[in-house]
Amino acid sequence: MVNPGGPLKTPPSTPLPPRSGSAAGEQTAPRSVAVRPGVSRRSSIPAFEVMRITDEIARRRAGGHDVVSLCAGEPSARAIPGTLKPAGYTGPLGTAPLREAVAGHYREWYDVEIDPATVAITTGSSGAFQLAFLAAFDPGDRVALASPGYPAYRNILTALGVHVVEIPTGPENRYQPTPALLDAAVAEHGDLAGLVIASPANPTGTMLDRAALTALVAWCSLRGVRLVSDEIYHGITFAGDGADHRGVTARELDAEAIVVNSFSKYWGMTGWRLGWAILPDALVGPFEALASNFALSPPAPAQELALSAFSPETYAERDAIVAGFARARQLILDAESSLGWGVAAPSDGAFYYYSELGPQLERFTDSVEYARRLLADADVAVVPGVDFDPVDGSRAVRLSYAAGEPAVAEALDRIIRFQG
Ligand SMILES: Cc1ncc(COP(=O)(O)O)c(C=O)c1O
Repeated sequence: MVNPGGPLKTPPSTPLPPRSGSAAGEQTAPRSVAVRPGVSRRSSIPAFEVMRITDEIARRRAGGHDVVSLCAGEPSARAIPGTLKPAGYTGPLGTAPLREAVAGHYREWYDVEIDPATVAITTGSSGAFQLAFLAAFDPGDRVALASPGYPAYRNILTALGVHVVEIPTGPENRYQPTPALLDAAVAEHGDLAGLVIASPANPTGTMLDRAALTALVAWCSLRGVRLVSDEIYHGITFAGDGADHRGVTARELDAEAIVVNSFSKYWGMTGWRLGWAILPDALVGPFEALASNFALSPPAPAQELALSAFSPETYAERDAIVAGFARARQLILDAESSLGWGVAAPSDGAFYYYSELGPQLERFTDSVEYARRLLADADVAVVPGVDFDPVDGSRAVRLSYAAGEPAVAEALDRIIRFQG
């Protein structure tokens, strides 16, 4: 049983950087971000490197460059018919039809019964993370997450005064936390209040299979650690069509887990800003109180149109898009020896390929310089790993093959020519 208010709570520590740069602050501040008078310590988090590169791509394109971008984790936009009309607020947890439709999706994909009253519709999964972290954790709590990992978990938690415990992962554990790694983290840092996992993960694309997820659930349940499972890339998987091929939802294994998901990736609806959380019973009220103050309600027109996401036609359309991602992924796997990079994460799902640059780094200071020169000399945008792993990410890059087969083929040609 999760016991977030119980004895496992850790005494408040000071995870935020101080207003003036002391040694303690340097230890805990993620990368170096200046702290200024009159600006809160909690806002001293790094910006998202991908978004800076996105700006640079736009500038180059405006200047006439034919830039191929393997940068954004964003499928091409899907047109959804609809008309612009005035729309009122909905309930803070979303409309009843959409909450019921999300519950229906769990029946359809996972054969799991969800009470629609525990479904919260949010402004993207990003909105769900903010509210879930606020509802579940207090300042000074410790929450663990895998490194490399999606940077917003780390940065939102830090902004909320929660102490982030990074679990270093690698090829030996498929870049995912394990009970042994969590034991080591507790021995080093103290008890945890939460664990955030993602399967498939960003930036690696690796997945937790049923056995691995069950082991993490058991570890968390035994210690009263709240599990937060990011399932945003479910459905974008390349493991065939076995029973768990969409991904295993933590909700099936743990009624105390917070499950977060979104219309952004499988459905390609990033700009609609719609996601959801499946909440344990005890968190529905707190989450609703926070949602009603922070966002009032999720966007009404987007909720209305999102109902069509769960039709058989839409599932078929999106599965065809996923088949295209699979072909683009294969192009990269086939080019591995020509690229001549180092160790790559197994790209089980999502649309990411995360690899060390290996011998290529002999010619570049780090992956930031590699990515900068690749964009400047060959007009190919990739993301250096530093966003995802402040320690070892300077040796790795992430390619997003959401751009599709032709773009990936062109980018690979250019990369191989660039590397000479
Ligand atoms: C792992 C992961 N979680 C969450 C998000 C946030 O997506 P959104 O707010 O659009 O649902 C992203 C976006 O790239 C992501 O990669």
